[in-house]
Amino acid sequence: MLTEDLENLKREICGEIDEIDFSNKKGLADIRVKVFGKAGCLTLLSKGMRDLSPEERPVVGALINEVRNFLEEKISSKEKDFEKQELRERLEKEKIDITEPSREKIGAAHPISNVLDRLTDICVSLGFSVVEGPEIETDYYNFEALNTPKNHPARDMQDTFFINDNILVRSQTSAVQAREMEVRKPPFKIICPGKTYRNDSDSTHSPVFHQLEGLVIDENISMADLKAMLTILMKRLYGEDTTIRFRPSFFPFTEPSIEVDVSCPNCHGKGCQTCKGTGMLELLGAGIVNPKVLEMSGIDSKKYRGFAFGFGLDRTAMILNSINNIRYFYRNDIRFLNQMK
Ligand code: PHE
Repeated sequence: MLTEDLENLKREICGEIDEIDFSNKKGLADIRVKVFGKAGCLTLLSKGMRDLSPEERPVVGALINEVRNFLEEKISSKEKDFEKQELRERLEKEKIDITEPSREKIGAAHPISNVLDRLTDICVSLGFSVVEGPEIETDYYNFEALNTPKNHPARDMQDTFFINDNILVRSQTSAVQAREMEVRKPPFKIICPGKTYRNDSDSTHSPVFHQLEGLVIDENISMADLKAMLTILMKRLYGEDTTIRFRPSFFPFTEPSIEVDVSCPNCHGKGCQTCKGTGMLELLGAGIVNPKVLEMSGIDSKKYRGFAFGFGLDRTAMILNSINNIRYFYRNDIRFLNQMK
């Protein structure tokens, strides 16, 4: 009798388990209670063992064990299936679609930062160190230490914003040269990029603009070194077919002084709007550091010589991006900046 009950129970429960599908997780838990719980059917049947004869007991006991193991196995396996299914559904739901276009607005570096980054990379690869100096400067470092005493006519070239008789906003990054020469031991190669200020304002001049200054101090420096360095720099910046031209000029802190023109990267020397038909662009001031300047900064001018160059980053950025008005750089107009990506 008990044997038959067990067989029936096994068949019945198996059927129930098979019918349960994933949507009915609770149903499976219920079956577990119904079979194995305190008042579960298998538990009750086990209790019925008491009434059996000693001969029957081991036979039925073995059968009960077999049914218990069988059902346990079947329920657990279904539970595991459910867990797997659950995990699959969760992963599906939480999946991030990486092909979806981002709603973040991706910005871009300002054209002047871009030019500065490029130039810095080039100069660092040529062995220069990058140094910065203060924008609020003393008259001494901006002018006097650069061989431009008070009332020197060369001061007129730079319409300077003075804060008082001794303090000004620097009109040239050459001020950093003077500071660095005082504290560095030659030989050294530095570039000094940064903001500079002059009372100038038209389509190619802004009261705030950016310069990059280069200074090399070593023994036996000559114009040939300066020319070679500038040629490499300009070729890397504007392209391999770029040529440069030296014109005599004057700066109090260099002797001889030159201005440097570069073949127009737009028309390659033929003449176009960018170069106003001349085929060349006036780009930099440069020269051999005046021995007086070396001496004032405590460098032995018998042993050491140097060359320096300085140029405008705004102008460079204008040429490289074909921008015809410097003010675009400072207006913060998002429509302009969007085109610079
Ligand atoms: N400081 C000069 C200027 O602003 C440029 C310059 C730098 C010239 C270094 C010679 C050497 O006009």
